[in-house]
Amino acid sequence: MTKPTIAPGTPLLSVRDLAVNFRVARGAWPWQKALLHAVNGISFDIGRGETLGLVGESGCGKSTLARAVIGLAPVASGSVSWQGEETVLGARRRLGNLRRGVQMIFQDPLASLDPRMSIGEIVAEPLRTHAPHLGRKETARRVLAMLERVGLNAHHLERRAHEFSGGQCQRVGIARALIGEPALVICDEPVSALDVSIQAQIVNLLCDLQRELSLSLLFVAHDLAVVKAISHRVMVMYLGRVMELGARGTVYDDPAHPYTRALLDAVPLPDPAHARERPAPLLRGEIASPLKPPSGCAFRTRCPSASAQCAATTPPPVASRCGHSIVACWHPRTAEDPRAA
Ligand SMILES: Nc1ncnc2c1ncn2[C@@H]1O[C@H](COP(=O)(O)OP(=O)(O)OP(=O)(O)O)[C@@H](O)[C@H]1O
Ligand SMILES: [Mg+2]
Repeated sequence: MTKPTIAPGTPLLSVRDLAVNFRVARGAWPWQKALLHAVNGISFDIGRGETLGLVGESGCGKSTLARAVIGLAPVASGSVSWQGEETVLGARRRLGNLRRGVQMIFQDPLASLDPRMSIGEIVAEPLRTHAPHLGRKETARRVLAMLERVGLNAHHLERRAHEFSGGQCQRVGIARALIGEPALVICDEPVSALDVSIQAQIVNLLCDLQRELSLSLLFVAHDLAVVKAISHRVMVMYLGRVMELGARGTVYDDPAHPYTRALLDAVPLPDPAHARERPAPLLRGEIASPLKPPSGCAFRTRCPSASAQCAATTPPPVASRCGHSIVACWHPRTAEDPRAA
């Protein structure tokens, strides 16, 4: 059978109206169940060689979205297309190409590495599964080349993960993810567990590899500075929904959504003089429960611009006034706004 041709300009990954629900216990009795909307109608594309940063507070659904893309979370509705071909999630048969083309890097590098295996075996494992025809010699050559590429060497081959620092373990995780030459790597908080100086090394390594190998990355993180350093475009999530999605420069320098503005205002400033001059933080209160989300806009209970319209109707994602981002807000911020950047 001939391979279908991929139309030029087709995104590598295309997600449309994706929703993920979990049935969770509601009360003391196990049979009292409630539906938790972890991801609610999310759409985005990732192009070839593009890094999409994904930010949002804890519990907003970042990991669930990342896992749903590769079929590891139960999708209630919506679609995921890989190179233009829709993958029916849950039907493994059709995940084949996507599974080979996508790899994940996790937050806790040590926990994600098998303690019984040597580093050489861990990095070689994806090749043994997906490219058994390579033979032992070629597999060993590729494993060593990949270890060297991520800053490790032949002396590390026989060692075990517990002998390594967190940063070294994450380098092994990156080598294992990249050895099968994926087109997209999903990085779920890959540096959150590391010291700040090591974070910078790993982010720089990922940036270099992304450029050299023309990789696409979905980069999930809490830290806005880390996401800014690595992303071409940024998606901001709140309570399972996309609030804003746009080019890095637009989202950071001219955010249209009050939530994006509030997140940026909450970033600590190193200079106390600048910190004193800054307006009072906009982000008040706690994130609402995904079991009982507010009506209308999910952010309205914490939003300084909320109106009756926000409570009545959920704002659809539309192009912002500058045209460089998509914003789900009835009252997007403008450049004339005194609090705008
Ligand atoms: N397997 C599961 N069963 C039930 N609820 C779940 C499950 N996985 C996630 N959730 C819930 O879905 C919501 C989103 O969780 P998720 O882990 O995706 O958030 P997150 O944005 O990645 O948070 P963090 O930044 O803390 O990693 C949370 O309310 C969480 O409790
Ligand atoms: Mg997470």
